[in-house]
Amino acid sequence: DWNSGNVIAEQVERIRQQVGTGRVISALSGGVDSAVSTALVHEAVGDQLIAVFVDHGLLRQGEREQVENDYVASTGVKLITVDARETFLEALAGVSDPEQKRKIIGREFIRAFEKVQADLVAEAKAEGEQVRFLVQGTLYPDVVESGGGAGTANIKSHHNVGGLPEDLQFELVEPLRTLFKDEVRAIGRELGLPEAIVGRQPFPGPGLGIRIVGEVTADRLEILRAADAIARAELTKAGLDDEIWQCPVVLLADVRSVGVQGDGRTYGHPIVLRPVSSEDAMTADWTRLPYDVLSKISNRITNEVKDVNRVVLDVTSKPPGTIEWE
Ligand code: XMP
Repeated sequence: DWNSGNVIAEQVERIRQQVGTGRVISALSGGVDSAVSTALVHEAVGDQLIAVFVDHGLLRQGEREQVENDYVASTGVKLITVDARETFLEALAGVSDPEQKRKIIGREFIRAFEKVQADLVAEAKAEGEQVRFLVQGTLYPDVVESGGGAGTANIKSHHNVGGLPEDLQFELVEPLRTLFKDEVRAIGRELGLPEAIVGRQPFPGPGLGIRIVGEVTADRLEILRAADAIARAELTKAGLDDEIWQCPVVLLADVRSVGVQGDGRTYGHPIVLRPVSSEDAMTADWTRLPYDVLSKISNRITNEVKDVNRVVLDVTSKPPGTIEWE
């Protein structure tokens, strides 16, 4: 008889015991795990906690506002946003290789976070205190996986926004360590977090940076963000969110094809829709979306998004395809 209220009470008590009067920082990614772990710690220690949100410019439409407005309004958490969009774009300039992109994004994320962290540590010190704790949204499956039993080869270097360097001088606070995703969502709802955050489908730490096949530029991000917003809106409108595990939307930035629109020839980029059904993302099948929904998404994207003149559907299972394209 699992009960989210009990788990919250128990975790709050534990966090208080661990942290005492110490200061705590937390990195928010906009994802479910960091949102719920941060909210739990805030419930336990209030303003001893400061949350940090790094805007790397690779977010989807509305995600920063969700965190800055809705999340803060529902939790009352103290939040610092770091606008690192320029830094990330500069670091990614000229880079097309997926693994290199992932490494750069991971590295820049850590740098951005360490900068704020250093400021916070200095500020605390000036007040005769210390920042001793760091919140991580580690879930039970993460604990099991990194225990090594899984035997999966490292196919892609996964970058979790929580994946901070090991030499950090902090003690970790990990209130979700014994929980599964659906339990974490239940706790988030109980804590009053916005549904748009609690019910969010998985989104990779490197964000849209690994959904542009080719170099990441500001223009391309804008195109992809617009196409992604349309696909998400239409899938939600069609009531398909629970049927789909996630639906990456990918821009083939280095591919162009000929099209015709109005009375002119176009030479634009394809957008790929990658709807998948899955239990745990280890394996997946492509979701048989209704044709009329696909048609609506395709029409809207080609009409509303500049430089996109074709929408294609990825009908590959995992394996052999991974869920993301990079
Ligand atoms: P793949 O593409 O490997 O993705 O089939 C499996 C699941 O992991 C997500 N994913 C990531 N999540 N950091 C994350 O936090 C990452 O670097 C990353 N790469 C992929 C992907 O969206 C899918 O849910």
